[in-house]
Amino acid sequence: MKYTLYKNPFFKVYAVVDNGYVKIKTDGVASPVLRPFVSNMLEYFDGVKPAKVENDYLIFSTWIPPIPSKPFSRLVSSQINARIGRYTPEQITISITEQCPNNCVHCALPDTNNKKSLEPDTVKDIIDQCLDMGSTFVIFDGGEPLVYDGLENLVSYVDSTRAISGLFTSGVGLNRQKAEDLKKAGLDMLTVSLDSAKEYNHDMMRGREGVFKEAMSAIKNSLDAGLLVNMYVVLTKRNIDELYDFYELAYEMGVHELSFFEVVPTGRWIDHEAETLSHMDYERFDRFVKYANSIKGPRIFSVPHILEMTGCFAGKKWLHFTPEGDVYPCACMPLSYGNIYKNTIKELWGRIQKETVFDADYCLMRDSEFRENYLGILEPKK
Ligand SMILES: C[S@@+](CC[C@H](N)C(=O)[O-])C[C@H]1O[C@@H](n2cnc3c(N)ncnc32)[C@H](O)[C@@H]1O
Ligand code: SF4
Repeated sequence: MKYTLYKNPFFKVYAVVDNGYVKIKTDGVASPVLRPFVSNMLEYFDGVKPAKVENDYLIFSTWIPPIPSKPFSRLVSSQINARIGRYTPEQITISITEQCPNNCVHCALPDTNNKKSLEPDTVKDIIDQCLDMGSTFVIFDGGEPLVYDGLENLVSYVDSTRAISGLFTSGVGLNRQKAEDLKKAGLDMLTVSLDSAKEYNHDMMRGREGVFKEAMSAIKNSLDAGLLVNMYVVLTKRNIDELYDFYELAYEMGVHELSFFEVVPTGRWIDHEAETLSHMDYERFDRFVKYANSIKGPRIFSVPHILEMTGCFAGKKWLHFTPEGDVYPCACMPLSYGNIYKNTIKELWGRIQKETVFDADYCLMRDSEFRENYLGILEPKK
């Protein structure tokens, strides 16, 4: 089976799955000329395990629309536009509520006392505006989005001919009925966060006993309901020794993908800028990613590796909406460019596009100069 990524009368890019691995092929009279220009984009797909293979479509990753599909074609168009400097907020995270029963030590959401939520009509308006601007991935974020009444209505509001929908959760209350309701509403991917493969350590990081068990049953119920499931680990010095344990757990649970991100010094973790992974930690992680791709088991999605290829997503491919309606260039960057109750999202995206600082090829939140100049965070004296 050939899965078409891109097609015009002179050039075609398609994927085949050979022995469990994706292979990228090109065809057409313009192929010898065009392939070298897009080879770095194609490299990302070539030679790795996909998340799920169906007869008529390929889910390369839980973070990307199925190939082929209308949202995927829109994503390809925005990637082509990005090459000529015209950026689209491809991925949006909407923090629909600040409410959360957990108390994670690293939570990116700054502590506020008002525990706000966005009204359903406001969320729908955000979705409408962003989809009109070309967004292809709508993620319901929090706080804990599963405590939001009427989440299913928001999920089903995402126009599946233009974007896929996703949910970030710690898993609280995701019983079989809820998983089936979300599946029926059309949820395209569900991400369950995991900070340790060990129950005690995960509960410690999440600030509440029982979160690990809830995460495990959320994963099981979601898989049983036929949802596409991603396990999401935010790497810190505290869990970097558990890479193989995470993989084993992801394999045992049968998730479709295991994703890794490095903790960002923001929110409750804002003063932990010095606690970054060492060069040796990165090397270990790099070896682990290569090894995990070579063995049977779920696909690995490594955000640090993606960022090396694409640069920082903030302000280029990502927009984040807070429960107060503020608009940030990224969920981890508490820098408001305006508010949805006062401005159109297009205006705010335009403001962000005028900033040259977002051309960064590394995570800006780890750059002390950026933190000081843009966020007013002075680093502690050594
Ligand atoms: C803010 S949470 C909201 C959704 C849900 N409550 C959860 O924990 O999955 C979204 C994701 O951000 C991650 N996260 C929290 N704090 C972070 C930080 N300081 N740096 C990077 N990711 C962070 C969480 O682990 C989670 O995977
Ligand atoms: S990371 Fe998620 S689960 Fe943890 S406190 Fe923040 S919102 Fe709640």
